[in-house]
Amino acid sequence: MDVENWILGNTPGAELNIKIPQNIASIIPYPPGKPLEELEREYGIKNSIKLASNENPWGPSPKAVRALRAELLNLHRYPDGSCHYLAAALAEKLGVDSAEIVLGNGSSDIIDLLVKAFVTEGDEVITSHPSFLMYQKNVQVRGGINYVVPLKDMRHDLSIIKDMVSEKTRLIFLDNPNNPTGTALAPVDLYQFLSDIPESLVVVLDEAYVDFMDKEFRVDLYSLIRNSEGRCPVVFLRTFSKAYGLAGLRIGFGVMPAEIAACLHKVRQPFNVNQMAQVGALAALEDEEHYQKTILRTRKGLLFLSTEVKKLGCKAYPSHANFFLIDVRGKADEVYTAMLAKGVIVRSMSAYGLENFIRITVGTEEENNRFLKSLAECLN
Ligand SMILES: Cc1ncc(COP(=O)(O)O)c(C=O)c1O
Repeated sequence: MDVENWILGNTPGAELNIKIPQNIASIIPYPPGKPLEELEREYGIKNSIKLASNENPWGPSPKAVRALRAELLNLHRYPDGSCHYLAAALAEKLGVDSAEIVLGNGSSDIIDLLVKAFVTEGDEVITSHPSFLMYQKNVQVRGGINYVVPLKDMRHDLSIIKDMVSEKTRLIFLDNPNNPTGTALAPVDLYQFLSDIPESLVVVLDEAYVDFMDKEFRVDLYSLIRNSEGRCPVVFLRTFSKAYGLAGLRIGFGVMPAEIAACLHKVRQPFNVNQMAQVGALAALEDEEHYQKTILRTRKGLLFLSTEVKKLGCKAYPSHANFFLIDVRGKADEVYTAMLAKGVIVRSMSAYGLENFIRITVGTEEENNRFLKSLAECLN
């Protein structure tokens, strides 16, 4: 990196006589949510509900909780650095080989590893706007160049993305369903896109919300991993943070051709997945009942909420995930603040350039009703 491009940051530490590289100084940190307890104290409220982070409102799998309790006594040991049992269980479930799976400290870790392994200074990465913010941030950390393509009709604009590909492109990130819009790509369009993309770069299909997506929208993971002849390789990202209800444990994974997995293993920390996460995820994977209940209840909640918000004069956008966008037909920041004062935490989309939109996660029945009541009051 060119030393002349380095500047002193205006962050705490700026008083130190150190040089912070330009690409790091210019990063806008991922907006951290305040702990619920802090918000409650600040606003003088109680029993607040959080529908802002696309978590599972019904909690973790009871099987996972039991397995985690039993594992507590082994915390003096380092975890299994290869995630042997979990990788084997996932491989069996997905019909792939363990060598095609890389586990991480959340799927965010796999995004970081991909960028670390494939992007050096000046390399190009294509993402969409709005989409999950961590792609661009990781690229910035490595000194790569982000090409950000605006969504078209709330969907990834595959034709423009294809046109942006150059010899320097290393990765393309597509979250499908997309966060924050909840839209999914038609499989036929996605297959066509993948066959149009050169073999020299990697397309990352981030399927954090795939569990909520209708079967006819899903692409065939097995064939896209195994038969890459004549088209670009594909990496799938999955997570235990959403449908499996283990966001706090931090565990996710990527499924990819073994050669790419080998590169990621080279750059990861030896113990990047803690022991509790491995044990909890393995048990959650076997808890089909909790998983199916979550999917059913989410779908029911999504239908209910979108019908009800329309009655309040808002526009609800169809979603394939456990969240959806609402056009509140007024300033989203104002609605967000008014709802916060009532103890209902949603996400304002104004920072994404969607001034009139909020994003909400489907909650429990009780949470959904409370959300609707607060929204009605705030809109009035
Ligand atoms: C599209 C998308 N990808 C990845 C993630 C990261 O999930 P995690 O790191 O919890 O696995 C999120 C989290 O909200 C997301 O929305």
